[in-house]
Amino acid sequence: MTQFRIAQISDTHLSRQKNQFVGNFEVAAERIATQRPDLVVHSGDIAVEATQRPDDLAFANELMAGLVAPYRAIAGNHDIGDNPGDGGYMPKKPVNDDFIAGYEALFGPSQWQIDAAGWCILGLNAELFLSGLAGEASQERWLDETLSQSGGKPVAIFCHKPLFLAQVEEPADVPYRYVPMAPRRKLAEMMAKADVRLFACGHVHQSRDHVVDGIRHVWGPATAFTLPDAVQPRVGTKRCGMVEYVFTHDGVTVETVFPDAMVQHDYDAVRAAYA
Ligand SMILES: [Fe+2]
Ligand SMILES: [Fe+2]
Repeated sequence: MTQFRIAQISDTHLSRQKNQFVGNFEVAAERIATQRPDLVVHSGDIAVEATQRPDDLAFANELMAGLVAPYRAIAGNHDIGDNPGDGGYMPKKPVNDDFIAGYEALFGPSQWQIDAAGWCILGLNAELFLSGLAGEASQERWLDETLSQSGGKPVAIFCHKPLFLAQVEEPADVPYRYVPMAPRRKLAEMMAKADVRLFACGHVHQSRDHVVDGIRHVWGPATAFTLPDAVQPRVGTKRCGMVEYVFTHDGVTVETVFPDAMVQHDYDAVRAAYA
């Protein structure tokens, strides 16, 4: 295959019961039906809140099964609980093995690798960082081995959380937003041993596309909703959308798209989903 096209959707926040964001998922699904990518990557926060309502993930799985393209998913904090952060931060719903098992039963392994168009494309579970779960150490071993064995191929990594705001070493910002400092440093060291060209994420509900030390960092927009500036300071573009990638032997092109039909929900809709 000379080119491999991926559509990235993120932060769909789906639920049968709290269904206000289903319409925007359907807009993404229609675009996928038109564009016919080789693969859809869901970069996490598939559910509104699966740690309290497991049916959110079952419902999301039914919707994802209706996509015309095959898909791979990675888990977000609203799917399996969150990881501890810098400065002793502990989330209200910490990740645990039961949540991960429930997620994996529907969406497959937390980590995955796809080789296509000369690229090595990887999915990482961001919620394992600093969790102390057995999966944290095994993911680290897997990633180290996989990157060491990538044989000079260009590598793309999909991970729910961004690696950083601007650079690896920076003052601690929002403790639950980025990969925490200790695993971030390890990840950066491992990445430096391979030809990593792309680090793609979701989670922030703001889109950004910037290059740091030769690696393109793409923050996919949420399909579901954005947050007002008074609740979440603006660091990127606050608009619902998705990302389209074309991987070839020459590189990758990235386009963030904002379909007009996606509704820009107000904060009341978000509050109602999380009430
Ligand atoms: Fe999210
Ligand atoms: Fe998230």
